Amino acid sequence: MADRIQVLIVDDIPETRDHLAKLLGFEVDIHVIGTAASGAEAIELATHLLPDVVLMDINMPDMDGIAATELLSARVPSAAVVMMSVQGEADYLRRSMLAGAREFLVKPFSSDELTASIRQVYSREKEKAGRAAAVTLAARTKDPTEEGQVVAVFSPKGGVGRTTIAVNLAVAAAELGKKVTLVDASFQFGDVAVLLNLNPKDKSMAELVPELEAGRDPDSVEAFTLTHSSGIHVLLAPPSPEMAELITPAGVKHVIEILRQHSELVVIDCAAWFNDTLLGILDLADVVLTVLTLEITSIKNIRLFLEVAEQLGYSHKIRLVLNRADTTLGIRVADVENSIGRKVDHTIVSDGRAVVYALNRGVPFVLSNRESQVSQDVLRLATSIVGSRESREEEKGKSPQKGRSLFAWR
Ligand SMILES: Nc1ncnc2c1ncn2[C@@H]1O[C@H](COP(=O)(O)OP(=O)(O)OP(=O)(O)O)[C@@H](O)[C@H]1O
Ligand SMILES: [Mg+2]
Repeated sequence: MADRIQVLIVDDIPETRDHLAKLLGFEVDIHVIGTAASGAEAIELATHLLPDVVLMDINMPDMDGIAATELLSARVPSAAVVMMSVQGEADYLRRSMLAGAREFLVKPFSSDELTASIRQVYSREKEKAGRAAAVTLAARTKDPTEEGQVVAVFSPKGGVGRTTIAVNLAVAAAELGKKVTLVDASFQFGDVAVLLNLNPKDKSMAELVPELEAGRDPDSVEAFTLTHSSGIHVLLAPPSPEMAELITPAGVKHVIEILRQHSELVVIDCAAWFNDTLLGILDLADVVLTVLTLEITSIKNIRLFLEVAEQLGYSHKIRLVLNRADTTLGIRVADVENSIGRKVDHTIVSDGRAVVYALNRGVPFVLSNRESQVSQDVLRLATSIVGSRESREEEKGKSPQKGRSLFAWR
């Protein structure tokens, strides 16, 4: 059968390899094209056999499954790795996903779980490949004379959904045909890499900023971004928190100014605290999506932020996004609006199932679960942002107060 799923089995224990091959031998749509006893052999075989799916044991003596997956993702990106492990801990899952694995099976697993995972991963990858081709066909070109729109996703309180919104918004805008770059500006504990299943090794803001400060060619910015299968370009946060020290506020501004020359839309996932870096981003932003939830602490902080924003001349850029808007915990949207003296501009429903499932798999929900209400809400937000380009040009004429420092209004 021509379109059988081609599987490569990698495990250092011969009995496990045989057992898995026998189990899969019963499936008419799955074909085991090879078995490997080590990470090195797996890479060698995968390069020649080009499997659709690689079943990878995590614990192997010479090169473990995570290191092998990392190399495989770079050398045979069409091969989707399903990691197999006796350890089900979050750290293993996270490291596997960061290395590029698409699924994680905890041993012992049933034959049904195994085949369902293989089929699921395969159809997801096929769908992704189709979408990537469509994206390439749409030829994401940009008018070089026009600056891209900069959208900062901010909230004065952590954990309210900034990263979730920024990632899905960027992907949704790409689906609308825009050339998009997503920047993770949570430099110490950025989560964008995990949500998109990307690896920040050697390609992050921490490598880029010193490069630019050393006077290197500004076009090198593109060499530090990764391209996600959705078509968006991504500039990740450094892989470890201490590297955030290499990133200067001026460097960040410089990067954004360059990125907006290359993209139609730059979406920035900001950190939740006020500092020079954040002020630099807010200065450059055309739109500040300010995220809040129906919690009293979030509302209190938003009120304070709105006061500061007014003094700094950012008010006209702010759009309030109420996340998890349907949560019924005693505070109503009207109460929030009364309290902060301003209307909420966009609402996004709460959908723990869709959001956490997407997060754990590293596939944004606007791609994997497009029909859900939460995806529809984000798509509507993206449409409104992309469509607001003209009104932005009008707003520009209003000349906001520029160059004021955070405390200058006191
Ligand atoms: N609309 C939603 N429905 C259900 N869960 C959500 C929704 N939005 C976000 N979440 C969940 O809330 C948590 C925080 O989301 P997220 O990491 O996006 O927030 P954040 O503001 O970026 O947080 P941090 O301060 O850690 O950067 C995550 O577990 C996420 O899955
Ligand atoms: Mg975040």
